[in-house]
Amino acid sequence: MAGIYLHIPFCKKACHYCNFHFSTSLGLKNDLIAALLKEIPLQKDYLQGQPINTIYFGGGTPSILEAPELEALLNELNKYYTINSLAEITLEANPDDITETKLYNWKTLGINRLSIGIQSFFEEDLLWMNRAHNAAEARNCLATATRYFQNITIDLIYGSPLLTNEQWLQNLSIANSYNIPHLSCYALTVEPDTALQKMIALQKKEAVDRKRSG
Ligand SMILES: C[S@@+](CC[C@H](N)C(=O)[O-])C[C@H]1O[C@@H](n2cnc3c(N)ncnc32)[C@H](O)[C@@H]1O
Ligand code: SF4
Repeated sequence: MAGIYLHIPFCKKACHYCNFHFSTSLGLKNDLIAALLKEIPLQKDYLQGQPINTIYFGGGTPSILEAPELEALLNELNKYYTINSLAEITLEANPDDITETKLYNWKTLGINRLSIGIQSFFEEDLLWMNRAHNAAEARNCLATATRYFQNITIDLIYGSPLLTNEQWLQNLSIANSYNIPHLSCYALTVEPDTALQKMIALQKKEAVDRKRSG
């Protein structure tokens, strides 16, 4: 079984806990798309003609891309690889990018699964994380996205200092209320070279209690 992962390393804001590869400047977005469009044919023999069963746009924040950019990448993949007609095509999407127009475009392009970074439904928790979305957007985007996509997974983070155990259970119960088939729950980790690590070292943020997040 073969799959292709495309990394889109751009985000609107730097979440304080995150050390994935990303930039908050979109200055190199066009160059990145051009480089990916060159890389796809260069790598065409790597999978030795195996049919592709999954395509995954991860990030960073792939939902930041415009529909024509996603279309160009998918067209190029279709040109050089045999994509299974039932392939799972996932896009990581952040709540503040999810609009009816974008959902319609993604569906039209053949994207059939969304991975949505909710993280929490609580405002203070989202502010603590420095997320680009608020609590209302966390709920509204799910109400809208579930009208267009059945196959949705959402990310939630537990173990942050402001989130009580009761609120964590509420996060799970709110997520379940949208009948989403899959949840990814991450224990908050303090990663090297993140704003979170620096703020904890400077005692500007409370240390993360491993017993709560581990
Ligand atoms: C590729 S990342 C981000 C995808 C997308 N940009 C977003 O933020 O929703 C996938 C997930 O990893 C989790 N994550 C990233 N850094 C983390 C950390 N330090 N501790 C716990 N979870 C983390 C978040 O839940 C995030 O949604
Ligand atoms: S968690 Fe997602 S949106 Fe936040 S900085 Fe990391 S990749 Fe970007």
